[in-house]
Amino acid sequence: MAFSIGDLFAGAGLFSEGFRQAGFLPRFAVELDAEAVKSYRRNVGPNAVHGSVTDVLNLGTVDVLIAGPPCQGFSTLGRRDPLDARNDLCFAVLPWADGAKPKVIVIENVPPFLKSGHWQRLARGLRRRGYKIFTWELEAADFGTPQLRRRAFTIASKIGIISPPAPVSERISCAHALLNEPIAENDLMHRWPTLQGVSAQRVALVPANGDKRDIQKAAPELCPPSWQRIGCQATDVWGRIDPDEPANTLRCTFLNPSKGRYLHPTENRTISLREGARLQGIPDDWLIDGRPYQVARQIGNGVPIPLARAVAKQIYAALSAFETADSLAA
Ligand SMILES: C[S@@+](CC[C@H](N)C(=O)[O-])C[C@H]1O[C@@H](n2cnc3c(N)ncnc32)[C@H](O)[C@@H]1O
Repeated sequence: MAFSIGDLFAGAGLFSEGFRQAGFLPRFAVELDAEAVKSYRRNVGPNAVHGSVTDVLNLGTVDVLIAGPPCQGFSTLGRRDPLDARNDLCFAVLPWADGAKPKVIVIENVPPFLKSGHWQRLARGLRRRGYKIFTWELEAADFGTPQLRRRAFTIASKIGIISPPAPVSERISCAHALLNEPIAENDLMHRWPTLQGVSAQRVALVPANGDKRDIQKAAPELCPPSWQRIGCQATDVWGRIDPDEPANTLRCTFLNPSKGRYLHPTENRTISLREGARLQGIPDDWLIDGRPYQVARQIGNGVPIPLARAVAKQIYAALSAFETADSLAA
């Protein structure tokens, strides 16, 4: 059985790719960012439409509608502004549900989304349309991703209960993604920014698994007064990735060492675009379009592909069981 998906807020297509790997057929995708649309078409499939989900409204019916609305207004890393206009974009799923008539809808976001008034209103709208709602909070590192990244999935189902996937037994460290598996020399995404001046001096002082605090100890003259003022907060910045553990959550700013623990475990640089892609489970044969910071945004915005695949397999199994029961009853 081949079930189809439509993807709203599709980005470069990581969420779609997890579904594709689980056997689904990507029928349409809608994304506002032109570079991300190019990436989607290049790596996942040709049916990505460039536009706003609030303007394009119907591209046919699908078995499953998936959506990853912007999360900045709900994320603990953002300013968590309930008035952030981007928060309202999640409601676009409702008219799309009317048009695409999916049996299942899967909405991915950060866990605080589930506690928001926006989620309550969205869930009410979905229930009114006949869906039963389930929520799953899943840790990407429990599903074969070399990265800690907790994500919330809202499952709206017209086919009964769908259970969450069971975690795999072992967590993967990021050594495999960053050290053990060589990257082709001509890989266009094995690029990182050249650090200069004070930035280069700071990075050279960070030992294995170290961070900003090691720079403060070794060379206080390289540290601005603001580092003292924020005290122990943000200690992960200028941090080196621990190769023996899953990486911390990858954000869109991972090319900037002042934004997190993004320094290579052994080299004096940030991780490359390819290494960031590997932390999200993106295959090495993917090329992502745009300037480096645009590529990093598409990578950092995505659902880790192994997590997306684990979610998709559950949906696939539930749809197959439902169709089989339906045909036996007919
Ligand atoms: C969290 S990312 C989705 C990532 C995607 N699910 C993946 O796994 O690769 C949110 C995306 O929504 C897009 N976006 C924001 N506003 C939009 C709109 N009005 N219509 C369509 N896409 C929009 C952003 O450009 C961004 O790529």
